[in-house]
Amino acid sequence: MYNILKKVGLTLAAASIVLSGAACSATRGGEDASSGSAGGDTLIGVSMPTKSLERWNRDGQHLEELLKSDGFGVSLQYADNKVEQQISQIENIINDGPEVLVVAPIDGSALGPVLAQAKQAGISVIAYDRLILDTADIDYYATFDNYQVGQLQGKYIEQTLGLADGKGPFNFEPFSGSPDDNNARFFFEGAWDVLQPYVQSGQLVVPSGKAPASVDNWQSIGIQAWAATAAQSEMETRLNSFYQDKSVDAVLAPNDALALGIAQALESAGYTSDNWPVLTGQDADQANVENILGGKQSMTVWKDTRKLSDQVARMVSQIVNGETVEVNDTTSYDNGKVVVPSYLLTPIVITKDNVQSELVDSGFYSPSDLGLS
Ligand code: BGC
Repeated sequence: MYNILKKVGLTLAAASIVLSGAACSATRGGEDASSGSAGGDTLIGVSMPTKSLERWNRDGQHLEELLKSDGFGVSLQYADNKVEQQISQIENIINDGPEVLVVAPIDGSALGPVLAQAKQAGISVIAYDRLILDTADIDYYATFDNYQVGQLQGKYIEQTLGLADGKGPFNFEPFSGSPDDNNARFFFEGAWDVLQPYVQSGQLVVPSGKAPASVDNWQSIGIQAWAATAAQSEMETRLNSFYQDKSVDAVLAPNDALALGIAQALESAGYTSDNWPVLTGQDADQANVENILGGKQSMTVWKDTRKLSDQVARMVSQIVNGETVEVNDTTSYDNGKVVVPSYLLTPIVITKDNVQSELVDSGFYSPSDLGLS
């Protein structure tokens, strides 16, 4: 696919770009892969990382509904955040003969061999939300703009503390996501590009010392498997060890699972609405939106998972029907082997001021989900 890109000279990210799904189909072996039929006989495999986080349940359910309403058969599997389990589930799906495989990887680097099997079987592969690394056997990637997610978190902290106006010093604690998730680097990079200058100028002070010297060291403050409990105990350790005589003013949490654990640690340490720090997040999970309304989280970056599923369902149909597959970025996501043609969606900042207009009015939550009725 990268070669096709190069051939037709589509190397710029600026415009909305379309690629030939027919060209992609032509590389498939065997049966009538490009017949254009989207009947119930056509199977689509979907491999999701875990049911333990709200967003992946929503993602899987919505994508399954869309694919079924497009007339496809769907094999949807969740892997309990275990890499080996995801690999064997994908192997099983491949044996069932799908046309397209949609994968949100647990460990972005662990799927090369199983995707080689998919390639051999003529199956097209779409990476869902998280990029699959170190393999050429991937056709497309659909995600939200991960760098922008981090930028929105960083800019929120910058604005709320008045850093651009020279305010400070503030006590600040940064966290990053799971070291095996390629997205986590993008989130951190987006935030660090905003915040690191203030760490360097001394407007942000990191009493724990856990401020990576550069973006490349992001994994040093990563929370494995995005576990809320691990984030909680890390925050407890930092508060107990470095905050005896001071309080924390801002915490960069890359997603809502971590923000939940961090809020728990703050609560146990006696923080109240009087001194609650600026606390970021991502995903607009229900418990976190409730925390935003209750003053225990400042913001979250909402990625309307319905839009991502919509986009991926469109890609699947385009591939199966041999139509052009729409992408809008062909430069940002180099997976170590190829630059993967991607479709990036736009994330949105949620604070208590727009919970109603964005999350409720759009039907993402009902008022009663959030205790609003
Ligand atoms: C996703 C986030 C999610 C995190 C933990 C990331 O790859 O982009 O939305 O919070 O994984 O599951």
